[in-house]
Amino acid sequence: MSEANSYSPGLAGVIAGESAISCIDVERNKLNMRGYDLVDLTEGGASFEEVAYLLLHDDLPSLGQLAAFNDALLIERQLPDAVAHLLRTAPAKAHPMALLRTAVSALAYSDADSLAGDTSHEANVRKAVRLLAKVPLIIAAGHRLAQGQEPVEPRDDLSLAANLLYMISGEEPKAYAIEAMNVSLILYSEHGYNASAFAARVAASTLADMHAAITAGVATLGGPLHGGANEAAMEMMLEIGTPDNARTWILDALQSKRKIMGFGHREYKSGDSRVPAMKQAGLSVSQETGEDRWRQIAEISEETMLAEKGIFPNLDLPCAYAYYGLDIPIPLFTPIFVASRISGWAAHVIEQQDNNRLIRPNHIYTGPVGRTYKSVGDR
Ligand code: CMC
Repeated sequence: MSEANSYSPGLAGVIAGESAISCIDVERNKLNMRGYDLVDLTEGGASFEEVAYLLLHDDLPSLGQLAAFNDALLIERQLPDAVAHLLRTAPAKAHPMALLRTAVSALAYSDADSLAGDTSHEANVRKAVRLLAKVPLIIAAGHRLAQGQEPVEPRDDLSLAANLLYMISGEEPKAYAIEAMNVSLILYSEHGYNASAFAARVAASTLADMHAAITAGVATLGGPLHGGANEAAMEMMLEIGTPDNARTWILDALQSKRKIMGFGHREYKSGDSRVPAMKQAGLSVSQETGEDRWRQIAEISEETMLAEKGIFPNLDLPCAYAYYGLDIPIPLFTPIFVASRISGWAAHVIEQQDNNRLIRPNHIYTGPVGRTYKSVGDR
């Protein structure tokens, strides 16, 4: 096959590596995560912590293993001084994703295993646990400081999902809110060779540190074609304003060739397997809060997109209105995606470095050849 024939723009359909972490089962429209159907985990009442353990340790934990994992996360629920200082001195207008990306990188300043240059399997798992525990604190403290409020101290008696909500608002979260957040964190946790996981693996393949690879993951997730879509989808629904306006708005946007945020996926062509579980969580939030407008706008947008383009919504659409219903500020939507996806990225970094080969693809050169250098005065 010629070089040009084997080239696929955007690497669509290209097999770029092997992984035993997860895969999209396109035939059955499921996400297989270490042998489990991801949706079964949410329906079976798993906690995000159990799923993070599954990602980091290849199997679901026993009761004792989960207790030990939760203890390890609790011990790490604190920020090093350098990162606390970084958050306090950041400009209030800094985007939470920019702040989070910088703070994740800065966690390496004081991570004992990073300082020791240890990239062993065991050290990588320890680094992942620290990152998982600390990222929610960065998100919440960064947000509150930007609002002129003091950070809320984390509570030892709350799960990761509950604590995240508590530290953002300063109020004890209700059961339905914890449930919706827990489901979203599970659904966001891992998704195969997506752009950010691939970016993390590329960095890890140079034997760069876990923190460097996760920083690459955060940077890659932020764009609106990837994780940034949950914020963009909510901005779109706010622009639509009312369910009555949704169909016309979508038709106009399609007419002017706009991308509709929260729709489409490179792999799923008959619907994102994670959407029904998140829709259910979003419906519970609507019922509990009595505000159904955003969910209705999303439903009408979905009907219109399917009728006009045959394109299904992705997870970011129901997550957007569920988070909005939980009173989460829109600029925190993508950082919350990070709080979850750390688990998947860390699993990829560990897997990559356990059996490493440098990721270094080739490309088709499209520039000129044979030019002759002339000194600057002769050009
Ligand atoms: N709105 C309008 N048209 C779309 C959309 C959309 N959201 N998604 C795909 N299309 C059209 C696209 O215009 C193209 O049409 P044509 O062949 O006529 O030019 C066709 O469908 C194929 O689209 P593509 O952009 O070439 O497909 P891709 O596989 O490169 O892109 C995608 C996938 C997710 C980037 C794209 O669907 C998109 O931009 N969606 C909006 C952003 C979004 O919601 N991203 C979140 C993705 S899922 C969660 C995550 O990973 O974070």
